Amino acid sequence: MYLSSAIGALGLVAPVVLAAPSPPLVEKRACTFDSLTNPTCWDGTFDLNTNYYDSWPSVGGHQEYTFHITNITMAPDGINRTVLAINGQVPGPTIFANWGDTVAVTVINELEDAGTSIHFHGVRQKDTNTQDGAVSITQCPIPGGKTSMTYKWTATQYGTSWYHGHYGLQAWDGLFGPIVIAGPASSAYKNDLGTLMLSDWTHKTAEYLESDAAVNGGENIDNGLINGTNIFIDPTTNIQTGKRFEFVFQPNESHRIRLINTAMDQHFKVALDGHEMEVIAADFVPIKPFKTKILNIGIGQRYDVIITADQTPGNFWLRANVQTNCGQRAATFTDIRAIVRYNSPGVNGTADPPEATPPAFDVDCTDMPMANLEPFVAINLNITGNLTFDQTITFNQDFNNPNPVINWEIKDGIHFLSHWENPTLLQLAGPGNVTFPDEQQVLEVNGVDKMQFVLIQTDSGGDHPIHLHGHDFWIVDQSNTTKFDPSTFVPNTINPPRRDVALLNGSGHLVIAFKADNPGAWLLHCHIAWHVNRGMALTFLENRADIFKPGDSDAVGKNCDAWKAFAKDKGIIQTDTGV
Ligand code: CU
Ligand code: CU
Ligand code: CU
Ligand code: CU
Repeated sequence: MYLSSAIGALGLVAPVVLAAPSPPLVEKRACTFDSLTNPTCWDGTFDLNTNYYDSWPSVGGHQEYTFHITNITMAPDGINRTVLAINGQVPGPTIFANWGDTVAVTVINELEDAGTSIHFHGVRQKDTNTQDGAVSITQCPIPGGKTSMTYKWTATQYGTSWYHGHYGLQAWDGLFGPIVIAGPASSAYKNDLGTLMLSDWTHKTAEYLESDAAVNGGENIDNGLINGTNIFIDPTTNIQTGKRFEFVFQPNESHRIRLINTAMDQHFKVALDGHEMEVIAADFVPIKPFKTKILNIGIGQRYDVIITADQTPGNFWLRANVQTNCGQRAATFTDIRAIVRYNSPGVNGTADPPEATPPAFDVDCTDMPMANLEPFVAINLNITGNLTFDQTITFNQDFNNPNPVINWEIKDGIHFLSHWENPTLLQLAGPGNVTFPDEQQVLEVNGVDKMQFVLIQTDSGGDHPIHLHGHDFWIVDQSNTTKFDPSTFVPNTINPPRRDVALLNGSGHLVIAFKADNPGAWLLHCHIAWHVNRGMALTFLENRADIFKPGDSDAVGKNCDAWKAFAKDKGIIQTDTGV
């Protein structure tokens, strides 16, 4: 089996055997992927040099998953609380696929009185906008009472990502899990240790905390988790509960670790005591490898790193320090660590690592420098003369309306609002030339393959991990300190970083570009839970005439009919901005 040979062997990767195409039309180096000896190859036709926006393998691989979503009590750090679990787990099961596979995920909503949806973060959904899982935009919520919906998409990219709920704050009550898509790599490694999900965690549900966040901007965070576990020390009783996540290094061997920041409010700086990391991918984009001791990882971002076990055998702390300058709510318990144990004789398999001097962390709120994030598949931007922006967006925070609830807007006095029961795609399926009210913040993008240049700023302080659905974007410019100034602006045109989340600093600016090559209604939003939920979001409506394939709009309508009946029956009223 192709899947099991490629990625089933996390820990020891076996060579993948695929028949070479015969005879090849273009002379290609026949090779098969081997993470240690042939990491840049894939199957003899596609490899690390392939422009994966244009082409990807198509060998008929298909992966199917079924997610049962339930409300249960769990204690990830030893403190009981209600969580949303997938198949009884937090985080949910890993979605594995090979590059080019089709993936089908059937989501069964077993909640009594809430809708749900699953969004596959970073997955491009090329020509499958209806499968994006964004309620109020691409679908109505999936009704409860064991109603199901099957999402189908093609893994046109490869690397590491995650999926999460996109209804209310469900993503931060446990409804999330990893995505691993096997493909070539820009550096060699022996063992694939899989994903390491970094989360912040509260002892009350996010839904409960939201009412306070809507007024005050966010709640203090009780703890952090690594792959769904951590210790917790109660500040009043001093009683310690929970346990650390642990993983094992083979001495002198190299290990790939796939880091994912799934937090509601916290950006992290990650380091493994005594070791250097070689970074080979940023989000779903393979990059030219660079080495670092400390890795900044913003909310929603992913980094694939290779760490060689080159230290004197022992136990080591892996630390996820909070970027406290990010200006969101404080983390009250910041001891977020995992343990790495060398599989060597004489290494104590149960003791805590020594309190070695950690690397020199600072508390800056920042992405990794753009210069580090050089995509392996280089794509330059063609900008001549003065760049005119297709969209100029300023997110304003309105504290006063109503009562006081913080809301976000991009047009003065018109707060973002979209409706679960009337998503953008359902409106679009209606007759005539559909127009959208200002409050939905729909920005039209017309022109197949047209480049879109977008300037994003905010009048509020604070820092915002800006995420775009349906695309990787180029980072044309990013500053933590200065507002956009046309007189000093120099766009980054030579192979700029590409990814799907980048930090917008409240005092700075962000310029992104994307290519209108994927028709759809695609959200752009801040990935901080409290911000997206209160409307720091907008929709690019890209080449609207090309969005629906036959049957698509019927499926959207059918689920909406079921949702409306369910919501009426259960008396469900939308209290947030819809995304
Ligand atoms: Cu997304
Ligand atoms: Cu996301
Ligand atoms: Cu934000
Ligand atoms: Cu989203």
